[in-house]
Amino acid sequence: TYIVTDNCIRCKYTDCVEVCPVDCFYEGENFLVIHPDECIDCGVCEPECPAEAIKPDTEPGLDHWLKINTEFAQIWPNITGKRDPLPEAKEMDGVPGKFEKYFS
Ligand code: SF4
Ligand code: F3S
Repeated sequence: TYIVTDNCIRCKYTDCVEVCPVDCFYEGENFLVIHPDECIDCGVCEPECPAEAIKPDTEPGLDHWLKINTEFAQIWPNITGKRDPLPEAKEMDGVPGKFEKYFS
């Protein structure tokens, strides 16, 4: 599966949503997640993300993010269309450790 990782937080560009053939993105206030059981591993969303936040879960060190995607995909609503990015997207793009900064 592919998963959304840290740099989506407070950017939420949503370009990924538009290309997903199975609509498996779920939306929180500050970032999106992918439902790992619904993702068909097509890979088309990965290059679409301006924040480079989408990764295959085969990349090392992403266990924490696989867990976050799995958990929130079950409680957040499905998103199927592109929206405007968050207003602070540009300045937040590339800020390291967003999850630790804003969610703990
Ligand atoms: Fe959707 Fe394909 Fe991305 Fe999975 S890899 S989230 S199926 S676009
Ligand atoms: Fe997030 Fe990138 Fe999609 S910033 S909303 S994963 S296009």
